[in-house]
Amino acid sequence: MRMNQVQRSLKPPRPKSDLSSIESLIKAMLKKHRSPLMLIRRCVLEKQYQRFRKCLPEVMPYYAIKANPHQGVIKTFIKLGASFDVASANEMKHVLHLGASPSKIIFANTIKSREDIESARRRRVRLMTFDSEPELYKIAKHYPKAKVLVRIKVANEGSVVELSLKFGSDSDQAFFLLHKAKTLGLVPAGISFHVGSQSKNVENYMQALEISANIFKEAKKNGIRLKIMDIGGGFPIQHFDNEIGVNFERMASQIRKQIKTLFDRDVRFIAEPGRFLVGPAGVLVTQVIGRTFRNNKNYYYLNDGIYADFSGMVFDHCKYEFKTLRRGLRYLSALAGPTCDSFDTMSLNTEIPELYLGDVIYVKNIGAYSSASACPNFNGFPPAKIILV
Ligand SMILES: Cc1ncc(COP(=O)(O)O)c(C=O)c1O
Repeated sequence: MRMNQVQRSLKPPRPKSDLSSIESLIKAMLKKHRSPLMLIRRCVLEKQYQRFRKCLPEVMPYYAIKANPHQGVIKTFIKLGASFDVASANEMKHVLHLGASPSKIIFANTIKSREDIESARRRRVRLMTFDSEPELYKIAKHYPKAKVLVRIKVANEGSVVELSLKFGSDSDQAFFLLHKAKTLGLVPAGISFHVGSQSKNVENYMQALEISANIFKEAKKNGIRLKIMDIGGGFPIQHFDNEIGVNFERMASQIRKQIKTLFDRDVRFIAEPGRFLVGPAGVLVTQVIGRTFRNNKNYYYLNDGIYADFSGMVFDHCKYEFKTLRRGLRYLSALAGPTCDSFDTMSLNTEIPELYLGDVIYVKNIGAYSSASACPNFNGFPPAKIILV
């Protein structure tokens, strides 16, 4: 008997499954804080960053802070050595204030106000994108000698968020625009593209790289040596536990091969991942504040909704997996937010166990394009408190 006890105590503890460790974390956090809570797991931010570096070692990630500009997220990436993609002077000031270096920032919005370009000049953020001739005149006037990347329009086939509807020059205009940049006293540094967000289709990257490599060749033949290839964001994540078709490792290895085949050795590669770096780190914790039975199903009203941390369901076209801490028989249920608006409904057909007031509904993989686009106080309901854990 004694012997058995000793042997048992020598066994290493069984590793906790991700689910049970998330659920323990939620219970612990709810003892200290009121919901709604957006928990951002630092270890997952680190893991995603290292995954990116390992799979695409030649490509420097510039974290697109629009996905989640929380200062804890940015500080974590600064410590890891990341660079940053900003969309406005305000985002630029934010990352600089938190300690990022101006040389590690790209101003990756093809349309910039005069004031924002001047702000970039004052802060020595020299690298920026553009996709039209009028933008070049504006940049040349307000930031002479800026380093510019022409953003080209590429296929966004199958991507959840289409970005080529609004951005990107036709690729046959790219060389003309780079040449124009040079004549205006700017430094034509390279090319950028974006295949659309949550792009599971690696062909988008393959084709975009091929088109870009041809522009690099055309520029070289005509005396312009381009140095930077920006492959944008779009790298996909899993939103559901059993989702298939998302394989970053396989995608990255194909992109890497294409880079090696098509470009000269001295070309510098950068990317602008947002969702991939921060999405998997986020866990949104909400609680049931009201319930009823209507339209033949359970209706649960939560203390967070479409106008706040579920805003990604509208702006990011995102679908989420709703989880509960209860187990057992599942019933067809509807989930709605707290505001006085029927639009504030997250699901009309989720299958979950019966819930009671105060019960938790949580969502994993919701760190990107969620709190970032939440209304600050619609109907007086504040968005989730963000906590780095
Ligand atoms: C210019 C630019 N770069 C990067 C990103 C980040 O994209 P993702 O989150 O899909 O990686 C976006 C997203 O809209 C973007 O517009």
